[in-house]
Amino acid sequence: MEKPKTVTCTAPVNIAVIKYWGKRNEELILPINSSLSVTLHQDQLKTTTTVATSRSFQEDRIWLNGKEEDITHPRLQSCLRESESWLLVPLKKIYRNNKPTCHFFCVLYLVRRLARKRSKDGDPASDSMKLSHKVHICSVNDFPTAAGLASSAAGFACLVYTLAQVFGVEGELSEIARQGSGSACRSMYGGFVQWIMGEEDDGKDSLAQQVAPETHWPELRVLVLVASAERKPVGSTSGMQTSVQTSRLLKHRAESVVPGRMVEMIEAVQRRDFAAFAELTMKDSNQFHATCLDTYPPIFYLNSVSQQVINLVHRYNGHYKETRLAYTFDAGPNAVIYTLQQHVPEFVQAVQHFFPPETNGGEFIKGLPIEHVALPEELRQAIGLEPLAKGISYIISTKVGPGPCVLEDPTQHLLGSDGWPKKTL
Ligand code: DP6
Repeated sequence: MEKPKTVTCTAPVNIAVIKYWGKRNEELILPINSSLSVTLHQDQLKTTTTVATSRSFQEDRIWLNGKEEDITHPRLQSCLRESESWLLVPLKKIYRNNKPTCHFFCVLYLVRRLARKRSKDGDPASDSMKLSHKVHICSVNDFPTAAGLASSAAGFACLVYTLAQVFGVEGELSEIARQGSGSACRSMYGGFVQWIMGEEDDGKDSLAQQVAPETHWPELRVLVLVASAERKPVGSTSGMQTSVQTSRLLKHRAESVVPGRMVEMIEAVQRRDFAAFAELTMKDSNQFHATCLDTYPPIFYLNSVSQQVINLVHRYNGHYKETRLAYTFDAGPNAVIYTLQQHVPEFVQAVQHFFPPETNGGEFIKGLPIEHVALPEELRQAIGLEPLAKGISYIISTKVGPGPCVLEDPTQHLLGSDGWPKKTL
């Protein structure tokens, strides 16, 4: 048997500080407003994907977090047989509510199509024989899927990046990642990244772009406060669809609020102005959740733990008469806190005091090590909240990080030398 060609890559999670919520085109995933995010470091949170391709593979197959996804639907199979591109649109319609499997295969189709186009344009890197070979894909997240931790963003960014390596496609790829999951286009770069909404109907100008690299603001820290590892009640795809249909506040936000905020946020990042960055971040998260409440019927992503985190942050900042912390929440109750390195130890003590952890649980703080300090009595009193036991299961401490990377070490492949998942998965 011919030895498969195998490539393994990793890709990061990103957390938006100006949120994407609402599409103007469901099939192409074109947003109603631009957005901006921070790419988190892959030492703490990442997706790893291995793609193997071989003449001897009979079918395209995919294993996500150790489980094979079903691809037996006839429409899906015909798409995979590389038929006409018109199949893609009905396919997306059929499978819209079946993310991620169908979108994974749409992305696979799009990368192959791009590779074929570029090989026709005379790029010697991709020969057409290889493009017709089937692929085996194996992908794992090192964090809870669908816990509101942007797993689809890292997953699709990783898939697109790895397939592009396998098929020898270079250049702009955020347009394809976007069609897997909107926020995935921002995980194609490290540092601070904007997704420019674009104007064209075909989405060619709806792309991600780096605003500043990961080295730009070394003191910036990110703490993920994991409130619940349960599945979120309303997925972001269907949630934002209902918001677009029913919320006038969302329309106002997209047309009249976000354009100005994008300019201010880019300036705050460029100046490394934490207070400006933090205030915009909190206001934008609050407005996004206000549009969820303005959706009819309303959508609730925040719970009592999220509310306690919001109060904690405002009382902490109020005590110091300085904006030292910012919170932001996506489509789930987990809080993501942005702060500067020097404030991390004290804030973590405050979290441990106001959310007493389970004593028999595993480690409470994961990721970058945090120095132990005492919680000042006057701060504890100024915050003055009633402790909420076991509200937060753990904290992931991380920082700004780079974009997707290729893993050169073959021992890190998730598929064995025969192209099948390793037994240990
Ligand atoms: C709240 O990118 O998951 O995290 O495009 O439908 O796949 P689809 O949605 P998705 O939405 C993310 C929404 C958000 C805000 C953000 O990341 O900007």
